[in-house]
Amino acid sequence: MSLVHPNSVIYAQQFNPDWLKYFMGEVAKMDRMINCTERWADRQRKQLRQQCEGYGVGVTFWEYSTRTFTSFITAAKTLGLEIVFAHPLFAQMSSEMKGESDLDSIRILTDNLMPFGRHAFIMRHTEEGFAEMAAGISSVPLINGGDGPGQHPTQALLDYYTIQKEFGSVDGKKIAMVGDLRFGRTINSLSYLLGRNTLDVELFFVAPPERQISEGIKDFLQRHEIRFHEVDDLHEVAGSCDVVYMTRIQTEREGCPPVDLDQVRDRFSMSPSVVQLLQEHMIIMHPLPRSKVVNELPVEVDAIRQARYFQQARNGIPVRAVLLLEVLFGQISSIPEEMLKAA
Ligand code: NCD
Repeated sequence: MSLVHPNSVIYAQQFNPDWLKYFMGEVAKMDRMINCTERWADRQRKQLRQQCEGYGVGVTFWEYSTRTFTSFITAAKTLGLEIVFAHPLFAQMSSEMKGESDLDSIRILTDNLMPFGRHAFIMRHTEEGFAEMAAGISSVPLINGGDGPGQHPTQALLDYYTIQKEFGSVDGKKIAMVGDLRFGRTINSLSYLLGRNTLDVELFFVAPPERQISEGIKDFLQRHEIRFHEVDDLHEVAGSCDVVYMTRIQTEREGCPPVDLDQVRDRFSMSPSVVQLLQEHMIIMHPLPRSKVVNELPVEVDAIRQARYFQQARNGIPVRAVLLLEVLFGQISSIPEEMLKAA
């Protein structure tokens, strides 16, 4: 029996095609409402605020964040949810400085959300698997905002929405994922989400051998009959892809093997020679942050018409707003039993 609190969002594999289709439709409506100043949008905003009165979120991050932390807070405020607490770097500002364990903190934080009504707890942690463990003891639904090199399911939802918004559908697209595919959790979650929810996509994993995609993801894609290829130079595929999804080389993860950064700049970056190959209709994505040191996505690229990474980040707000509504009032498609370590 699973111990994870129902309606929790832990893994990208938990989203099934029916749920995702419904969800993406709701996100498109939310996106229109957020960006509209007309009367109908004001009326809808008022209705949402009434619905959300007395509901709220607690947000606790153990790891650095710019986009995920603030976009969850903006999304919650857009709905009129109460921000019961928001900790950007919890370990450094709590009794954990006195030696308290992270799991004891989870118990206290989520118990403290209970008396206020129905709430959700949003967290990010440095350890893979910690979100599932925390959801096992949480008194409220939990949303994983990133667990070390594990997963980042809400980023995958906004990545999927970005591609769908651009092309009308994700089906049939050629998508290259570039950079650190071994330790980058956004890649893990997006690969799982695409694997379970698309038809006829073709994936190109473009990375140095020591940072290539994991066997676990390759198995998953094979089971879902998704075509994929491992590639060791972005120049080979940049000209034929609809989406090139760049990522930075992670250096902060335990056990990261060293990477030849000159090789990354030559073969796994959006260099001028790669930009020349891009098709007009394609888009460049990046979950951000980009690395100033490696420079896999030079600032000059911001000005080209294919750059979509800042819009991608903005899409986090409608995506997370709808996700919060589903967690608090709707139903999140559940996590398959066999995935749960606590099962
Ligand atoms: C990423 C993350 O934190 O996993 N950023 C994000 O959430 N948008 C990417 C990264 O840290 O490289």
